[in-house]
Amino acid sequence: MSQNSARYSKTMVVIHWLTTLLVLGAWLTAEGGREVAQRPPILHFTLGLAVLALVVPRLILRLAGAAPDMTNQRNWLATAAKIGHGLLYLLLIGLPLTGWYAASRMGVPVSFLGIELPALTTAVQGRPGLIADLHENAGTFILILAGLHAVMAIWHQFVLRDGTLQRMSLR
Ligand code: HEM
Ligand code: HEM
Repeated sequence: MSQNSARYSKTMVVIHWLTTLLVLGAWLTAEGGREVAQRPPILHFTLGLAVLALVVPRLILRLAGAAPDMTNQRNWLATAAKIGHGLLYLLLIGLPLTGWYAASRMGVPVSFLGIELPALTTAVQGRPGLIADLHENAGTFILILAGLHAVMAIWHQFVLRDGTLQRMSLR
């Protein structure tokens, strides 16, 4: 396969790798159950909300053309990559929002860098419900999907040798 020299803009690259670290951090600091209401995992909230804060400029930049086309690939793998990237974007938005909703449902206040955010729903007694379950499962699913995505990137780089990792690097 030929080299694809088109690359992501520097800002897109920085946001991509920063988001990767934040998602990993959010996953590592996640807690479930009654503990959350008694001792809210502030670091988990902060890292997760930073993911949401970064996905907004990222999508705007993408719409403005900061992501290169997959010009030399028009096969089922390129389609799978597009679906995979779409799903990752969906999770980068959906995860923080469902987490924020789950916290509100538990009556746990959510703040970001010292700014108190409004509750997304009224608090309930007992189990926080379906959205919270969805959040917990999606939180692990994004890690599996990102792992698969990383394996594909490494395969492109070292087996197909098409320079995929260079597209997402600063040099
Ligand atoms: C939580 C972790 C990660 C998330 C959420 C994520 C998400 C994404 C998304 C959404 C894109 C598409 C960007 C766009 O076209 O706008 C992308 C591209 C890319 N990612 Fe990741 N990524 C993660 C981790 C990784 C890791 C660990 C690697 C490498 C080992 C990697 C390598 C790449 C590369 C090379 C591209 C560019 C693909 C292309 O040429 O089109 N990513 N990533
Ligand atoms: C990329 C971002 C995020 C990831 C990967 C993530 C991941 C997770 C995971 C895996 C759990 C389950 C932990 C367990 O059961 O041991 C969890 C729980 C939770 N997360 Fe997140 N989270 C993210 C963002 C957020 C945000 C932004 C908030 C709130 C502002 C939040 C609030 C919560 C709450 C309240 C729970 C407990 C839910 C329950 O016990 O029913 N999360 N998160």
